[in-house]
Amino acid sequence: MVNALELKHVDKVYDGPVPTQVLFDINLAFAENSFNAIIGSSGSGKSTLLNIMGTLDRATKGEVWVNSQSTAKLSRDGLAELRNQTIGFVFQFHFLLPEFTALENVLLPHRIGTSIISKEIVDRAHDIMELMGLSKVKNNPSARMSGGQQQRTAIARALINQPSIILADEPTGNLDSETTETTYELLRKIHQELNTTFIIITHDRRVAEKADRIVEIRDGKIALDMYR
Ligand SMILES: Nc1ncnc2c1ncn2[C@@H]1O[C@H](COP(=O)(O)OP(=O)(O)O)[C@@H](O)[C@H]1O
Ligand SMILES: [Mg+2]
Repeated sequence: MVNALELKHVDKVYDGPVPTQVLFDINLAFAENSFNAIIGSSGSGKSTLLNIMGTLDRATKGEVWVNSQSTAKLSRDGLAELRNQTIGFVFQFHFLLPEFTALENVLLPHRIGTSIISKEIVDRAHDIMELMGLSKVKNNPSARMSGGQQQRTAIARALINQPSIILADEPTGNLDSETTETTYELLRKIHQELNTTFIIITHDRRVAEKADRIVEIRDGKIALDMYR
């Protein structure tokens, strides 16, 4: 079994007048193409963990391996490149640019990598948006879409560079329960169609129960790790 992501003995201490340790000796490996949920109460360390897995933040101690590559010795630029090529992020708040159309928002991460947007990329954007049920609204300014459509656009944007890993931090935290349901069905569909590893933080039990594995974090430690 190949691991998409692996944490080895990860500690995180936030500096400050009173340094606080929020992660304690975390060991976790996520298999390629798996669909995982991370649960835990507010303040338990979920976002810290996700940011470290996504190399947005550094562990105080321990190692992070992405696609069997250690991130320990990578420079800032090296990390950014690895991140751009392999990881797509979805956050609770979608951070779309309101003046731009949904399609333009989806194409944005690509423009960070290169200023040329080939037909291939545009075709891919159309395909992903169709998969996400956004064909009809893709030319709408993103501010003129429903909350669910906006979040689906953010998911399409996370997929445009064909990441092998999607990290999502309470992606439906801001949506009503029906929209949450639809969004998760779409995530599962994407998971089946594109070979992507999903790691999703959620506080919605019903959502977590649809994952193949549930990891619960409590006070910065793994309290439960259950395959279903
Ligand atoms: N940048 C930071 N500096 C200091 N403390 C932080 C920082 N980010 C988070 N924390 C603290 O770390 C703990 C875990 O936070 P977080 O990972 O955001 O938890 P969760 O996502 O599970 O709600 C909390 O006590 C929080 O206050
Ligand atoms: Mg959080």
